[in-house]
Amino acid sequence: MEKAAMADLENLAYRRGVLIPAFKLYGELAGFYDYGPIGIAIRNRLEAHWRRTFIEGLGNLEVSTTIIAPENVFEASGHLSNFTDPVVNCKKCHASYRSDKLVEEFYEKKGDEKMAEAARHMPFKEIDEEIKKNKIKCQKCGGELSESEPFNLMMATKIGPYGGVQGYLRPETAQGIFMDFKQVFRDGGYKLPIGIGQVGKAFRNEISPRRMLIRMREFSQMELEYFFDPGVESLEINGEAVDESIFSEKINMLTAEMQENGSSEKYVQMTIKECLSKGFIPNNLFAFCVYKELNFMRELGFEDDRIRFRQVLKSELPHYSKGNFDMEVEFYGSFEEVSGTAYRTDFDLMNHQKHSGEDMSIINADKKLVPHVVEVSFGLDRLFWTLMGAKLFKDEKRGWDVLKLNDYTMPYDYAVFPLQKDEKLRDKAIALRNELVSKGMRIFFMQSGSIGKRYAKADETGIRYAITVDYQTLEDGTVTVRDSYDASQKRLPLGSIAEK
Ligand code: GAP
Repeated sequence: MEKAAMADLENLAYRRGVLIPAFKLYGELAGFYDYGPIGIAIRNRLEAHWRRTFIEGLGNLEVSTTIIAPENVFEASGHLSNFTDPVVNCKKCHASYRSDKLVEEFYEKKGDEKMAEAARHMPFKEIDEEIKKNKIKCQKCGGELSESEPFNLMMATKIGPYGGVQGYLRPETAQGIFMDFKQVFRDGGYKLPIGIGQVGKAFRNEISPRRMLIRMREFSQMELEYFFDPGVESLEINGEAVDESIFSEKINMLTAEMQENGSSEKYVQMTIKECLSKGFIPNNLFAFCVYKELNFMRELGFEDDRIRFRQVLKSELPHYSKGNFDMEVEFYGSFEEVSGTAYRTDFDLMNHQKHSGEDMSIINADKKLVPHVVEVSFGLDRLFWTLMGAKLFKDEKRGWDVLKLNDYTMPYDYAVFPLQKDEKLRDKAIALRNELVSKGMRIFFMQSGSIGKRYAKADETGIRYAITVDYQTLEDGTVTVRDSYDASQKRLPLGSIAEK
């Protein structure tokens, strides 16, 4: 089966209860989306698998911290002064644009992928030179554009009545984890290394939201902050030494050098060990996280040749980072970052110590220290959207699309359909649904529409198995189970499904 086009994905998302543009009744505002019942069912599965992999599977901890914080938190974290993107304004109609993206799009349209890639990491001055040289104008009125200036992406709010305290919606979930780290560590009597994670909303006043869930203004992150002692070389996770043979795993790498030389290769293959020895990866814990991220993606069903790790250039490193890898996946012709791995050192804890006056050091193995941090930060919505893009196929024969999700990602274990509008069939199907639900399965029940239409719905929404209850079921207790991957059907006894 061929991959479906991006327009098919967008169309399906709106038709099948996957996504709804937020506040549609009042006109849309770019960068905000609601999830419909199918969308949230799939997203919940991604979140559950992240939790299983990065929290429970590694003996890590989870917290839930506030979305709003007062200004001094972001003074300490550096976001107030550093969390900016380059913006240009139209001198005529005052429309605003993210200037690096204007240059990137200009070269993308020309088919010059090398320059488009370069534009993603250009300093302000070069961006402005490109805008001038290529006569890039306002997309709305054709007016001349101003020079790039930094625009802070944080969304401001006031806390309390009559002006109150200046606050901001968090631009990353991480800061709450840093502020609570010491208390969580001390209260639990834990040992380093220990990861503390959180799933939650983050907000960025993006200048140009784009590609639906790829760049939003309100989105969800799944972040893990791994606290460790940089003075300890050996790596123990969950009380066990890590088997270093995992570092022989090959990854697809887009190195800084390749980007700087404008290489036309999408990536080269190298082992994690080579990345360590060449200094691309700063330490063993970072290497371990890269290995886990890759395997997490494989389990979700992403193919290896569509995943690459991009070494983030020194010039574009976030203010807190001493080394970043972006994990990117191919999404309709370009690579999009779905997670960032960052060596945040002790930057955040030390800054909170400095600004709050609170000693952030802990005692670990009789040593007093402020731990260092490796962060793995996934964008949940991007992960969701790129997975949908990777798994949606065209089926000319069926006449509709098929979303091939796997056991980790499918929204429901089964769809249950009574064949026709007949009370006896409906009652039998409801009894089956109730039994399966009582066994902890997730069931999608639908009784209206022709059976063909209901199969189409299951196929397009990633529900792999559809059970049809028909007249034979009433006689011999068997049902038809249809597999959406290839539309094949099997006759199975009801008991064998309930026992699964
Ligand atoms: N705490 C580190 C951090 O926030 P980031 O690279 O800015 O790092 C992490 O964001 C992840 O969050 C990205 O890899 C991406 O998947 C997601 N993300 C960032 N900005 C986003 C946006 N505007 N819309 C959707 N997802 C976004």
